[in-house]
Amino acid sequence: MEKTKLTHLLEQMTIDEKIDQLLQLAAAFYSDKAEEKTGPMSDLGLTQETINNAGTTLGVSGAKEAIRVQQEYIKNNRLQIPTILMADIIHGFRTIFPIPLALGSSWDLNAAEQMAEISAREAAVSGLHVTFSPMVDLVRDPRWGRVMESTGEDPYLNSRLAEAFVKGYQGEDLTNDFERVAACVKHFAAYGAAIGGRDYNTVNMSERQLRESYLPGYQAALAAGAKLVMTSFNTVDGIPATANRWLFRDVLRKEFGFDGVVISDWGAVKEIIAHGAAEDEKQAAELAIKAGVDIEMMTTCYNDYLKELIEEGAVAEELLDEAVLRILTLKNDLGLFENPHRGADEAAEARVVLSQEHRTAAREIAQKSMVLLKNENILPFKSTETVAIIGPAAHSKDILGAWSWQGKQEEAVSLIEGSKAVSENILYGKEPFDYFAPTEAAINEAVTLAKQADKVVLALGEQDWMSGEAASRSDIRLPEAQLALFKQLQAVNEQLVVTLYNGRPLDLQGIDEAKAIVEAWFPGTEGGHALANLLWGQYNPSGRLSMSFPETVGQVPVYYNTETTGRPYESAPDEKYVSKYLDVSNYAKYPFGFGLSYHEAQYSELSLDKSQLSAEEKLTVSLQIKNNSDFAGEETVQLYLRDLVGEVVRPIKELKGFQKVWLEPGETKEVTFSITEDMLRYVHSNQETSSDAGTFQAMVGSNSRDLQMATFKFVR
Ligand code: BGC
Ligand code: BGC
Repeated sequence: MEKTKLTHLLEQMTIDEKIDQLLQLAAAFYSDKAEEKTGPMSDLGLTQETINNAGTTLGVSGAKEAIRVQQEYIKNNRLQIPTILMADIIHGFRTIFPIPLALGSSWDLNAAEQMAEISAREAAVSGLHVTFSPMVDLVRDPRWGRVMESTGEDPYLNSRLAEAFVKGYQGEDLTNDFERVAACVKHFAAYGAAIGGRDYNTVNMSERQLRESYLPGYQAALAAGAKLVMTSFNTVDGIPATANRWLFRDVLRKEFGFDGVVISDWGAVKEIIAHGAAEDEKQAAELAIKAGVDIEMMTTCYNDYLKELIEEGAVAEELLDEAVLRILTLKNDLGLFENPHRGADEAAEARVVLSQEHRTAAREIAQKSMVLLKNENILPFKSTETVAIIGPAAHSKDILGAWSWQGKQEEAVSLIEGSKAVSENILYGKEPFDYFAPTEAAINEAVTLAKQADKVVLALGEQDWMSGEAASRSDIRLPEAQLALFKQLQAVNEQLVVTLYNGRPLDLQGIDEAKAIVEAWFPGTEGGHALANLLWGQYNPSGRLSMSFPETVGQVPVYYNTETTGRPYESAPDEKYVSKYLDVSNYAKYPFGFGLSYHEAQYSELSLDKSQLSAEEKLTVSLQIKNNSDFAGEETVQLYLRDLVGEVVRPIKELKGFQKVWLEPGETKEVTFSITEDMLRYVHSNQETSSDAGTFQAMVGSNSRDLQMATFKFVR
């Protein structure tokens, strides 16, 4: 439809119809089972007419149901405007991929794009039009359960991944490509900085910090074309994001030039009242519409009060019109006026969803996202060795992660199933093994098996409910029963490998004596195959952490791109009056960028092609990397920079680039990075982004800790 026709359509709408466009209701309201909708309907005090006209819908699934809902909807809508079906497709639809934090650990932009593309295809043929993804909230606190939905602690890596997700979801031509869905970047802004890691808690940071570390991820998703933005639950400088005019009107709309749809998070408009920033629903509606929130998800402040506010002159009708036009434009961009069912197709659904091809991709991506944290000459296993696979996560199919509403555990591959596919020499028990309170019979069986085997895999971790939304924890160790089990098994067989399925960096005290530790995250449907391939060396681990693992929760937040202090510990480690703890180090147990492989790469010193860089030039850093082993494998070569003197205190290092390099056994490759002036810029005290002349360090290595360094000057 042409743009002018949309304006014409808007002109035909009554004020009530316009206000209804701004309401998003859950799928239950459109169910053909009366009992599913009557409860919520009366809770929200909705009329049938409002339901008929509410502009968008959350959580319908399945091609058949999607087609029925859309048909009914259009039939009941005076102007035959279609609805948009939205849902949270976060790391896969039915074929579940590793959680986003795991994808972050792959450092693989193609993998992220492919994951998003397959998720979009499965969702689109099942009738969905929009996914509430990617979540690009920068995270530094593993107590926060939603770190599993983020790609980690680094603005640069998050930004590259955000672009890859949006590309994968939306493709090149959303209007005509019905195997794609529109992306909604969230949660604007800084939701990941909740104080104390407690979900929904206050965020407190300077505008400068917001701009420097937190906004780049969202900006990257927008630059890649994301069609929607979701508000966050938190406050930003004291004002709830959903009521924050500065954040949405000045920064998002004016500065970033975003002209797509802004949707509130679930219930967030009404929550302005609970925050204590609005007296009642009427004021909440006024604040949100003035801030530029177009769609109100699941509460009815707009529905109940916007008309009154407009009639009283408190809200200009243009604000309503502008919001409606943006929603109509999204419907049009999705091609819904011409093709209201878009990709929804039962035959395609049966063919595409959870296809073998998608499973294969899920397995490959899961392999890439697992991180080998420790390995003292025990992995990979040889096929001749007898390996006992023990523990709560050995048989478990609770490996999908919290955001997998269409994923089915029974379709997932357990570690034991995966191991059977690669080795005939495995032992495993029959007793069900609880994550928190295993029976004595299960423990005894485990000890017996451990005694019999050459080597032991102890499969530990979290259950899916332990991370994700509303799943913050103050203690991020493994459950006590698992730590006790580790001790018991280690006493009978020291050849012990721990594998972990979980959604956040953990405090690994209590299991760090293991000979090897594999962080497998929540790996998704094909998790067991992927993990077994890695354990038996069918896959040489390549994952690198995108979020630091603390030594203990007491250090949190501990992240690599921290600023230096006036009394840096490193300058005088034996001094009392330096920045440190009395009882624990300042450092992460496993830092950002860290991960082992079966090959061993040796990094040479760096050479720079010049010692001075000016704004128009580029400086080339090069080094040789040699594979000193019999395994072929992939290195993720990381470039960090440090600005030694800044107007604003600079981080001790910042990731500015990375490359994946494949090395055959014994092979040496040269790797080069170009450094240009734009990579030296940062947000100054006046909120402007620019660079300072002075001395910089270029650092290259296999993780944020083990780096080769060379110095150069930037001159104006
Ligand atoms: C979450 C969002 C999600 C929305 C809709 C909220 O509780 O914070 O991330 O998109 O629900 O399901
Ligand atoms: C402390 C100050 C103290 C000063 C002189 C510093 O290390 O931080 O509080 O006044 O020493 O003793």
